[in-house]
Amino acid sequence: MNDNEPKPYDPATEGARMSFQGRMAYGDYLGLGDLLNAQHPLSDAHDEMLFIIQHQTSELWMKLALHEMAAARRAIAEGDLQPAFKMLSRVARIMEQLNDAWDVLRTMTPSEYTQFRDILGESSGFQSHQYRMIEFVAGNRNMAMIGPHEHRPDHARALRDEVAKPSLYDTVLARLAAEGFDVPARDRLDVAHQPDAAARAAWLAVYRDPARYWELYELAEKLVDFEDYFRRWRFNHVTTVERIIGFKRGSGGTSGVAYLRKMLEVVLFPDLWELRTEL
Ligand code: HEM
Repeated sequence: MNDNEPKPYDPATEGARMSFQGRMAYGDYLGLGDLLNAQHPLSDAHDEMLFIIQHQTSELWMKLALHEMAAARRAIAEGDLQPAFKMLSRVARIMEQLNDAWDVLRTMTPSEYTQFRDILGESSGFQSHQYRMIEFVAGNRNMAMIGPHEHRPDHARALRDEVAKPSLYDTVLARLAAEGFDVPARDRLDVAHQPDAAARAAWLAVYRDPARYWELYELAEKLVDFEDYFRRWRFNHVTTVERIIGFKRGSGGTSGVAYLRKMLEVVLFPDLWELRTEL
């Protein structure tokens, strides 16, 4: 190199640490050793890596969603609604992030998927305990859905423990009661929320006078937002599935697209959707 040639930029000149002997570096803090060594394709198919990483990243985002939902539920129970709003907004954004992620998976064609589908055996997102936990926390509880988790007693126990607690929506209903609305607690916590006349009447009062009940109004809209993004996730999933496997049965054993279409009918917070008709 002659003296006139520009020297390569060295970030050390600006104080960047360039050696991490005996220090905690980025990968140590983030546990990247485990994370980046957790992809184990079982075939030689090029697209299997995409399939694995797409599921793993989704599970990571679900982990964060559960973390936020649990904290939001605690905050709501304590009447501390402002921090809960922020957390619920974050959960909706996570759902949106997962919605965008389908664009990557959509680049995989049926021909590519069939190259490795058989090696998945019967494994399927149907057995995602975190997904089921998100539903259970929100309030869509169905004990039958614990079945595919019985082989993992820790996961099955966590789901059973969850249905013994008030759901996120139960906690919101308790908030309505604490604010003076006549909304009784549910007799059974281990079933999905059904439309409830007392709750709908309370929400109607809130939506008819937002200025008076601003915090409850905002809380309701945060839940609707969450459900709105969640519905989009389900829709994107079923469309992607149809595009990739058509009407074949799912690896988890369901009818596939027909099952997922049925799941599009799930309503997490029926009172909040029904009240709109009456306004
Ligand atoms: C090639 C891509 C995919 C295909 C063909 C596919 C297919 C299916 C099918 C057919 C089902 C119904 C259950 C069964 O019988 O297996 C299902 C359920 C499910 N999948 Fe996927 N899926 C794909 C990607 C994903 C991704 C990336 C995720 C993200 C985690 C995911 C999460 C889920 C979840 C959570 C369920 C359970 C839904 C419920 O029970 O309501 N799937 N999938």
